[in-house]
Amino acid sequence: MLAGCLFDLDGVLVDTARHHFVAWKRLAEEQLNVSFTHEDNEALKGLSRVESLDYILSKSTTVASAEQKLEWMALKNQWYLNAVQSITPDDLLPGAQALLRSLQDANIPAALGSASKNAPMIIDQLGIGKFLTAIVDGNVVTLSKPHPAVFLKGAELLGIEPPRTVVFEDAQSGVQAAKEGGFYCVGIGRKEDLTGADQVVPDLSFITIEKLNNWLNNN
Ligand code: BG6
Ligand code: MG
Repeated sequence: MLAGCLFDLDGVLVDTARHHFVAWKRLAEEQLNVSFTHEDNEALKGLSRVESLDYILSKSTTVASAEQKLEWMALKNQWYLNAVQSITPDDLLPGAQALLRSLQDANIPAALGSASKNAPMIIDQLGIGKFLTAIVDGNVVTLSKPHPAVFLKGAELLGIEPPRTVVFEDAQSGVQAAKEGGFYCVGIGRKEDLTGADQVVPDLSFITIEKLNNWLNNN
């Protein structure tokens, strides 16, 4: 039986992944003079802010001081905040609200497992805090995906065991983190971007509690 669910935020519950993409692409191209492709974006999904900047810097010959790195991260975050300031519950991705509600109705706990330090603000704007028993984000956990810490902490806070817990992830690093932690992982997006996920669906509207229980039972 399903014990609980852990949700990544960006790209799973809300379409903020594209705002991260646009802001990092702008930083890469305007400030560092390096290209930023779809593959680069897939590699960055799920990583922390500083790891994302380090990844982009590794594509350039620029040697940056600690102060310069802080400035670039602040600039990227400002662009990101400008883009997400008008997010409302209407921006929840298909099926997100319905699944969170059905989990709550069935007394199956849910938590957030995100690398983002902006997660609490976005959760507030989306009005989904009432569905989440715990929020584990980039302010709480410093070891980021593919390390399983964010999900292990979530399961610990919910008092549940990984094998009966489903993690929803849109990032390859997040799928790796979930599998490393011993969780059942449902990828959100395209199979070719999510190697190792137990199942992959286009969005959460394809998920019901019954389906999750069937998958866990046949695992
Ligand atoms: C993750 C996103 O959820 O959070 C990444 O997938 C993002 O793209 C990371 O860089 C950190 O987010 P923030 O909001 O702390 O800069
Ligand atoms: Mg994500």
